[in-house]
Amino acid sequence: MLTPSQQQLLTRTGPGTPMGELFRRYWVPALLAEELREPDGAPVRVKILSERLIAFRDSDGRYGLIDEFCAHRGVSLWFGRNEQSGLRCPYHGWKYDVTGQCVEVPSEPEASGFCRKIKLKSYPLVERGGVLWTYMGPPALKPELPAFEWATVAPAHRYVSKWLEQCNHLQAMEGGIDSSHVSFLHRFDVDKDPLHRDSLGPKYSIADPDPKLEVSESAAGLLIKSRRNADAGNYYWRITQWIMPWYTLIPPYGDHPITGNAWVPIDDESCWVFVIGYHPARALTAHEATAMRAGQGIFVENFDGSYRPRANRDNDYLIDRAGQKAGRTFSGVLGISAQDAAVQESMGPMQDRTKENLASTDNAIIMARQRLMKAAANVQKGVAPPALDPETHKVRSAAVVLPKNVPFEKGIKDALTARPDVIPMNV
Ligand code: FES
Ligand SMILES: [Fe+2]
Repeated sequence: MLTPSQQQLLTRTGPGTPMGELFRRYWVPALLAEELREPDGAPVRVKILSERLIAFRDSDGRYGLIDEFCAHRGVSLWFGRNEQSGLRCPYHGWKYDVTGQCVEVPSEPEASGFCRKIKLKSYPLVERGGVLWTYMGPPALKPELPAFEWATVAPAHRYVSKWLEQCNHLQAMEGGIDSSHVSFLHRFDVDKDPLHRDSLGPKYSIADPDPKLEVSESAAGLLIKSRRNADAGNYYWRITQWIMPWYTLIPPYGDHPITGNAWVPIDDESCWVFVIGYHPARALTAHEATAMRAGQGIFVENFDGSYRPRANRDNDYLIDRAGQKAGRTFSGVLGISAQDAAVQESMGPMQDRTKENLASTDNAIIMARQRLMKAAANVQKGVAPPALDPETHKVRSAAVVLPKNVPFEKGIKDALTARPDVIPMNV
């Protein structure tokens, strides 16, 4: 249970809030590279951490992320004309380059220098791993670019997408580090799904719905070790990585790709859920890529041309009560991420944590909150937060069956370190 002020601290991420200032110290996944494919293509509205921005790609292919609103009289530059190396406001023709610098004010003589004094807020926008990342913090404190394994493998090894979740980022992310719900919410899906089946993992998860969670701090965030009984002599371990401030890496099922998420606040009542699938040692198969695009596994089927899920709160996530009764799904909702969205959004746009009652399986949630609150307090005191150093990003998740008498650290060895071309430890 949180106090009202802790709830406030953890959930508010707009400019000037402590959590917002913490998040602004990291590179932020802002949009997918596929959203700005073409030079001079359509500009894209990007709202991140409650700031309204416009992303565009100029005639030379350069990326820009600038204030959404024209400095003249506030028209949204989403209506802008993207032409000749700049974005031109459709109202009176003021034009901006990718840095937000105004480069033309048609009504004023060029010699007056008027336009040179006009500059919109702008942030860097850089492509890496199929994602366009921005940095919204103090320029002097900008860290090196992220080096997550999924972002640095060859493009054929990876698929990244995103979907809109209509609730505060924290309750969404807390679902991602809560291993125990898999045995309930996702019970009838994990063993049938094409990105999970043919692995013993789902069978162990279902057979033992009472995992023992051990959570420890890592350099980048947390190691969440969930231990279930495999058989009389062995444990089934799943090790999820939580990387500050909003990433997870989920342990693989068999030789299927590792999957993961990033929950990025749009504002305090909605977030982007980036979904990542990658295999460090091989290209994705056509079958895997098709399944991901079709919204299988933790991927989501969105409406064409948008990132809004087809199953959403306006249609009650297409709940199928007969299917629920017949045991086709536990929740009645089809699809792993749709199930997560249904329960998480059902809490309301902002879960009231002053009324919750946490149990022993919520350890990872408790520790993640503590790490976030501590890091936010430290940033206020001028202390750098964890996981800025790209070296700390080079980790991965793993799953393993170990004899009950083998200590976890001994059995897992260096399986939690990202190693190019090495197959992840999996069950
Ligand atoms: S409002 Fe943009 S040019 Fe006038
Ligand atoms: Fe889930």
